[in-house]
Amino acid sequence: MLYIDFHKRLTALVLLLGSSSVLATSPVEPGGEYEQALELTPNLENGKKSYMMCTICHRPEGWGREDGMFPQIAGQLASVTIKQLADIRARNRDNPTMRPFTSARLLGGVQEIADVAAYIENLPMNPRNGVGSGNDLARGETIYEKECTECHGAQGEGDREDHIPSIQGQHYRYLMRQFEWIRHGKRRNVDPKMVKQIKRFTGRDVMAVMDYTSRFKLPAEKVATPGWQNPDYPKYARQPMPHTPYTPRYRRPVPPPRPASGMY
Ligand code: HEC
Ligand code: HEC
Repeated sequence: MLYIDFHKRLTALVLLLGSSSVLATSPVEPGGEYEQALELTPNLENGKKSYMMCTICHRPEGWGREDGMFPQIAGQLASVTIKQLADIRARNRDNPTMRPFTSARLLGGVQEIADVAAYIENLPMNPRNGVGSGNDLARGETIYEKECTECHGAQGEGDREDHIPSIQGQHYRYLMRQFEWIRHGKRRNVDPKMVKQIKRFTGRDVMAVMDYTSRFKLPAEKVATPGWQNPDYPKYARQPMPHTPYTPRYRRPVPPPRPASGMY
C-alpha cells in the first residue's frame, strides 16, 4: 500500500511541477554549470519551491533515511550540492533514481540549482543519524586522522572552496555505500587522490572509519531541536517511508499444494 502511495505522490508532483512556475524558462548548456551557479546570488524563496520535488525522497527535513537509501542532504555545503547536481545532470555521477528530477525541465537552470542548494544548506540537520556498531572506533579514529582530515576536516565538516562534502551527521549505511562505490570506481566524480588513498583499505578499515565518521558531534547551530519539522511543509503527510521500491516483473507461478500422501 505504502509503495503505491509513494508512486501516486511522485506522479502527482511531477504533473504539478510540470505546470508550475518552477519550470525552467531557459535551460542552460550542459557543462560549466558548477562555476556559473557559484557566481549567482541564491533566492531562498525559490529554493523552497524547487525543494518540493526533492521532498519525495529526501523528505521535507532533508534527513534522508537511516537505511542509507536516501542520504541526509540537510546542512550540506551549497557548493557541494551544486557540484553534485551539475555532475548528475552532466552524467558524471550516476543516479538513475534522481536524475529526471535534476533535469532542466523539472528543476530549471543554474539559478534554480543555486537556490535549492542554498535552501538545503540552511535546513537544520538530523540529530539522530544512523551510526555503525561502535565496535572498532579507535581504529576508525586512527585511520580518519591519518587519511581523511586533510580533505574532509577534523570533524568531517568538508570544504566549501574545494567542494569537498561535509560527511558529519551522514547515515552510516549511506557512507558505507558511497565509500565502496568511490573505492571501486562506480562513483566516478571523485578526487583521484582519494580513490588512490583508500584502495588498499580492508573491509574492517572501511567499517571502522565510516562508523567513526558517522559519530561526529554536529555543531550546535547546525542541528535541529528534537521533534523539529520543516515549517515550510506544514501539511506534508509524513507517513513512514516505504521500503525499497521494487516490483518483480516476473513471479514464478506457485505450484498447487501437493496432496498429502496416502490421500488417494
Ligand atoms: C526519486 C528520488 C529522489 C529525488 C526526487 C531526489 N533525489 Fe537526491 N538522491 C536520491 C538518491 C537515491 C541519492 C543517492 C544516490 C547514490 O547513492 O549515489 C540522492 C543523492 C543526492 C545528493 C548527493 C548527496 C551526497 O552527499 O552524495 C544530493 C546533493 C541530492 N540528492 C539532492 C537532491 C535535490 C536538490 C533534489 C531535488 C531537486 C533531489 N535530490 C531529488 C534520490 C532522489
Ligand atoms: C584528496 C582529498 C580527499 C581525501 C584524502 C579523502 N576524500 Fe573523501 N571525498 C573527497 C572529495 C573531493 C569528495 C567528493 C567528490 C565529488 O563528488 O565531487 C569526497 C567524497 C567522499 C564521500 C562521499 C560523500 C557524499 O556525501 O557523497 C565519503 C563518504 C568520503 N569522501 C569519505 C572519505 C573518508 C572516510 C576518507 C578517509 C579515509 C576520505 N574521504 C578521504 C576528497 C577526499
